[in-house]
Amino acid sequence: MEPLKGLILSGGAGTRLRPITHTSAKQLVPVANKPVLFYGIEALVDAGVKEIGIIIAPETGDEIREAAGDGSQFGASITYIVQDKPAGLAHAVLTAEEFIGGAPFVMYLGDNLLSHGLRGLVSTFAEDDPDALILLTPVDDPQSYGVAELTPEGGIVRLIEKPKDPPSNLALVGVYLFSPLIFDAARRLEPSWRGELEITEAIQTLIDDGRRVQSEVVRGWWKDTGQLADMLEANRLVLEEVEESIEGEVDEDSRVEGRVVISPGAKVVRSIVRGPAVIGPGATVEDAFIGPYTSIGDEVAVRRCEVEHSIVLANSTVEDLGTRMEASLLGRNVKLTRSEGLPKTLRLLVGDNSIIEIL
Ligand code: G1P
Repeated sequence: MEPLKGLILSGGAGTRLRPITHTSAKQLVPVANKPVLFYGIEALVDAGVKEIGIIIAPETGDEIREAAGDGSQFGASITYIVQDKPAGLAHAVLTAEEFIGGAPFVMYLGDNLLSHGLRGLVSTFAEDDPDALILLTPVDDPQSYGVAELTPEGGIVRLIEKPKDPPSNLALVGVYLFSPLIFDAARRLEPSWRGELEITEAIQTLIDDGRRVQSEVVRGWWKDTGQLADMLEANRLVLEEVEESIEGEVDEDSRVEGRVVISPGAKVVRSIVRGPAVIGPGATVEDAFIGPYTSIGDEVAVRRCEVEHSIVLANSTVEDLGTRMEASLLGRNVKLTRSEGLPKTLRLLVGDNSIIEIL
């Protein structure tokens, strides 16, 4: 078999992660201080897939190019392909036809995270040589995904995108392995009810054509990081596997407990950091408590307050909250602080689509 190419889909508006995605691509939101997208690139490279195309949208493409570059930082070669409109996953595949150039390929949704990587799948695909290999996982809300109906032996009966009445709880995960036959199937599609060319329907077309479509159930965990709760959960799962490393400064009056990363240039002063947690380069934690499952970004300052199970992006300041902040995602350059003197009021400058819950 020809070597597999990789195709990462990194377009999309990220509407469910607004306001973070007003100013930044959802695939660049960091999980444990590393952009979600990088986990996908690394998983492909780890599985031996080094020629990678990244589909970008006109609005967020430049930022993604800048972050991932030519791929040399990952040991890969990256080509950027602009999808001019968000017309669906199968439309994205068609946009990449020239790049794929007749090779089999792995398609990976850029906001997905998989704990077990892609090696196993890539070797199953190479051994069995099917026309498509899809990945499934049980979910609580199959209505929100593409769903597979299987025979008792595990063969695929049919695939349906976002079914009102799901035939099973097995959702399609955002990782697909395809032979070039997928292009012909995608070309024959009509837009779905949501106006998109659905990859689920392209795979169903392969099944209808009598092609060999195999499925596997995901080992370990899988997360689509499209929404805040998923993002926090992904952060928790990745931090669960983080390796302890203390390169920044921790003063004598501080305690670091459990698996914690204190990055170079970070300072922990008169504070407790209880892992799993990561403190980014140049961050300051002073008279503060950082609790489990927290990622503190580059150059962030946390002073005189408590933060846990949260993600704080670069250059933000969190001070004097008076109550513990949890289950929160703060964007870049956010300032959350206490005002002095009277009147004792809330003063806010909040972007569109923000959510603030106060005691
Ligand atoms: C897409 C696919 C869906 C799949 C999901 C996985 O959904 O259409 O079949 O289950 O990704 O994340 P979307 O994110 O476009 O709603």
